[in-house]
Amino acid sequence: MRNILLFAFVCMIAFSGCNAPKPVKTIENLKAGIKGETTASAKYAAFAAKAREEGNDTIAKLFDAASKAESIHATNHKKVLEGLGEKMEDFKPEFEVKTTAENLQAAIEGETYEATTMYPQFLADAAAEKVEKATKSFNWAFDTEKKHAAFYQKALDALKVNAENTLAFEYAVCPVCGNTYEKAMLDKKCAFCQTGEEKFIMI
Ligand SMILES: [Fe+2]
Ligand SMILES: [Fe+2]
Repeated sequence: MRNILLFAFVCMIAFSGCNAPKPVKTIENLKAGIKGETTASAKYAAFAAKAREEGNDTIAKLFDAASKAESIHATNHKKVLEGLGEKMEDFKPEFEVKTTAENLQAAIEGETYEATTMYPQFLADAAAEKVEKATKSFNWAFDTEKKHAAFYQKALDALKVNAENTLAFEYAVCPVCGNTYEKAMLDKKCAFCQTGEEKFIMI
């Protein structure tokens, strides 16, 4: 009996040394990222429907492309979270649909917040906690959101002068990282993750 107890004690000490501390901040950030990206994806799909209703088909296409990209970001973050042995709680995306001009303004503000505040903080935490897979997933989203903000600004500027027909009508979304291109500007390989253009999702 004494030997068994001693063996159990030695095992406990040995295994406790193997358990790395949980990346607590990164786990919370991944959950916030999944919520933000899933909400953005649903919101942009609703904004696309509203744009079509208002006769703005080119702007609807941009919302469709960004919606797809955000769903890829959410999926990537979820894979990292589950790889850390954690699960996402259920939640309901909440957002408001207004006019297309207001929706574009809201989209610019959302993307700008993610690109200037949210992802820089998430990236700093992931680096400090050394979660490389989270760093990769956050970086892909961070780089994409900067492009989305610029696309939305261009669309809003065009809408203000009734020049929506000058905007792109086709977009390409990288299925791996969510990088978003105007189709005419597509690279041979994704600038963020090197996926070949033949694999891109055409919107
Ligand atoms: Fe975005
Ligand atoms: Fe990519």
